[in-house]
Order: sequence, then C-alpha cells, then structure tokens
Amino acid sequence: MQASVIANKEYTISEIDDRVYGAFLEHLGRAIYEGIYEPEHPTADANGMRGDVIELVKRLNVPFVRYPGGNFVSAYNWEDGIGPRDQRPVRLDLAWHTSESNAVGIHEFADWCATVGTDMMLAVNLGSRGVDEARNFLEYCNHPGGSYWSDLRIKNGRKDPWNVKLWCLGNEMDGPWQVGHKDAHEYGKLAANTARAMRMFDKSLELVACGSSNSDMVTYPDWERIVLEHTFEHIDHISLHMYFRNYEKNTANYLALSEKLDRYIDTIAATIRYVRSKKKSRHKVFISFDEWNVWYHSNQQDRAIRDGHQGWPHAPALLEDIYNFEDVLMVGLALNTFIRRSDVVKIACIAQLVNVIAPIMTERGGPAWAQTIYYPYYYASIHGRGTALQLQVKSPGYESVHADHTPYLDIAGVHNEATGIVTFFLINRHSVETIRTEVALQGFTQGTILEHKVMTHSNLEAVNTATSQQEVAPRDGKGAALTEGTLTIELPPYSYQMVRVKV
Ligand code: AHR
Repeated sequence: MQASVIANKEYTISEIDDRVYGAFLEHLGRAIYEGIYEPEHPTADANGMRGDVIELVKRLNVPFVRYPGGNFVSAYNWEDGIGPRDQRPVRLDLAWHTSESNAVGIHEFADWCATVGTDMMLAVNLGSRGVDEARNFLEYCNHPGGSYWSDLRIKNGRKDPWNVKLWCLGNEMDGPWQVGHKDAHEYGKLAANTARAMRMFDKSLELVACGSSNSDMVTYPDWERIVLEHTFEHIDHISLHMYFRNYEKNTANYLALSEKLDRYIDTIAATIRYVRSKKKSRHKVFISFDEWNVWYHSNQQDRAIRDGHQGWPHAPALLEDIYNFEDVLMVGLALNTFIRRSDVVKIACIAQLVNVIAPIMTERGGPAWAQTIYYPYYYASIHGRGTALQLQVKSPGYESVHADHTPYLDIAGVHNEATGIVTFFLINRHSVETIRTEVALQGFTQGTILEHKVMTHSNLEAVNTATSQQEVAPRDGKGAALTEGTLTIELPPYSYQMVRVKV
C-alpha cells in the first residue's frame, strides 16, 4: 500500500502549546500513595517520595500536573491536607469508596512538582463547596503573606507563594456520578461567580470551566453552549474529557476513535465560535483536554470496590489498566490529533500519570516501570514541540463505526525552528499491509535523518510487566531514506514510528 504526504514549511496549523503534554494525578487508588509517595520505599527521598518514579516522570518533561482530582475533588476539603501530618483527618472519599489519609496535601504535592521540575494545575471543589473555598485555597497558595490563609501557609512551612496560574473550576460537573452534580445553568452561574472572585484576586489567572465528560453525554454539546454563555468573558479554556475503550476487541473501530476525538474537538471549537459571535466578544477561549487516555482494561475488576463491597480501603489498586501494544497505537493517534488541533487545544492531560490508568506503574517496595503507552507519550512530549505542519495526506482508508473514511496512515508533523528539526509521528492502522510512505519536504533545505524509532509487535495484546519491562519498547528503525527532499519510509502493519529530520 502507498501513501503520500506533502510537508511544506509555509503551511502550518499553529504553534503547539507545550502544555498539551500535561498529565494528571488524583487522590485515587495507588496514584499518590505507593505511586509517588511511599516513605518506606528504598528509593524514597527525605519527603517520602519515590525516587524511581521521579526519574521516570522527569524523563517525560511533563510541563504541568493537574491535581487533586478528578471526581475526588468534588468532595475534597483541601484544608484536610495541611498542617502537622499526625493531626490530619482521615476522610471517606465518596467518589471512589475509599479512605483518604491526607498524608499528602498541597505542600507535599508542590514539593514533588518542584523536584520533578513541573508546574501545577489545581482544581477547586465546585461539587460540595463553592466560591468561598476557591478564594481561600487561592489565597493560601498564591498570596505572599499578611492575610489569614497566606500566614497559615507560612506557618505550615512554605514562605513563598506557589503562584499557581492554572485553575480548574471543578471537575466533570455534567456527570450524575459527580458529588454535587449540577445542570448546565447551575454550574455555569457558579463557575462564572467563582471565576469572578478568583479574578478579583489576580486578573492574570488562567481559568478552565468544565465541558463535557465525553461526547456521548445526553447533555453534549448543549452543555458547552450554556456553560460558555454564562462564563465566556471570565474563563480561558473549556475542558473536555475522553477515554478510549475496546471492549469489543475490534481493532479497526478502536483505532478509528481518534476520528471521533477530532469531531469532538471540532464541535466544541465551533461552539466556542458560536458563543463568541453571539456575545460579540473579542475574548478568546480555547480547549483544555484535561483528561484523555485508554481506560477499560480494569473496569470489571474495580467494580467490587467502587460498589462499596470492600468497605472503605485506603489506596487500593483501582483503575490499574495494564496497557498492551494496541494501546500504543491509540495513544499515538490521540497525540497526533492534539498536534493537528493545536490551533484550538492549548492544554491536555494524559490521565493519569502513575498506577491509575497510567504510563508508569509501581510495585509496593518494588520496581517502577514504563507501561507500553509511556513511549508514544514520551516521544510526543520530548520531540513534538514547535509548529504543527498542515500536512497534505493521501492514504487509502476504511469505513468504521466512527467515520466513513479512516486513513490507514495517520501522521502529524512538527517543525521546531529553534533546533532546525522536523519530526513526524506516524501510525499504520492496517492489520496486514505495509504502507510505503513518501513525504515530500517543501521549503526546507536538504536534510538528514537524525533518528528513527519504531514500535511494533506480533501480538497486539503484548504488555510490559515488572519482570518483563521491555517486551513492548521502541527499537531503532531501518530503511528510512531522504533523497532529493523526499523522505521514504516503510510502515509495517500496526506500527508506530517517529522520524526526526534535521532540515
Ligand atoms: O481519571 C479517572 C476519572 O475519570 C476522573 O476522576 C474523572 O474526572 C473521570 O471520570
């Protein structure tokens, strides 16, 4: 099978905001406890944070981490996680039917972020609480001193404010599963009032209102329209979430989910434009895709805990999807979609980062390792920074439940002017055919291939485990050539590739 692509230096989509490679950590399962925090672990630092996990996260160059939830945030009292540890209350977490020790709170998380070298995106609780807790939490985090909450922060050991700029106004408030779930008008008014109060403290905050939990919600996309009508001038981003599932074991449909993702983004981009025009506003609102990933492998095994049949365990294994090779392709496709929609998607978070639907897994007292999906996320985060190219792509395709035409070749291209490197991320969705791909590089000086990585496997269900950490891992690619401005590359069936060209 043949595919052809034109990559012209002058035809671009947008500068990619580095923050599309963000991540998410929630007080859920073993994400915090045994994930990032395990004081008894042999690699733990003075703060009880696992050093092996810190190293794996650092490698990903994650620009920021969203915290503390997720569904968890909608009944969370952030004040429970400050002050002397032995005086912090144990609370019941209604979202996941577990107990929360509060051993980790904002101070510990902020210190961990500083060690990792990442920023924080914080969420306020607009489920069980509202404007008051939001303004207090903001003052605690960002005011230098001389007020009740900022002085309490100083007393608790942190002199300088953290100056967190990125804030989520609640989480998935359209979902009936959410503590304090609201309809779009109720939520829109609350979000607007909270945003106004937060902006009275600091006009330069970047605020994110809740959009839909997924594009199958009955309220979608009216939810976005109504919420935007209430909040438009007070916010900067509307959040979207989407999880990819393959219960039917239908790879063709599964790998076409990125077409559904693209349509979802397109619809909300249009909704933003609609509300902007209706309001005759010049204000700009973008999309924060602050939860996305594959999530379905662990659903069945989680049922007993989530339904409350095991009481209120502390940090049980929950949402521990073990990712396979097929998921590498899906995660690569999602990341390519964010690159191609970088004109409207300015923030995105892989959900989540450690143990809970995560690229990094840990064993209590044992090793930490990279799941299969770590690699496409790693390559996009490290090499997918710069300007997204508007590629012209000709590829045969197939019909799926999500789209009439899903091309077998999926490709995104990024030009980094500062380094003089063009990077292509390519996925072959075909089960048996190799795609011989020609990429015509136009407007670039003659180039050389710097790096070529391939991920492929004879078994779509192959996984990495603690004892077999490299079963699904990138290898050096062979046979890519660059002659007279044309890059030729062969994509084996079901493969992910990255090619970097010095131009
Ligand atoms: O990431 C897991 C959960 O998925 C989050 O808590 C929630 O926001 C979403 O439904």
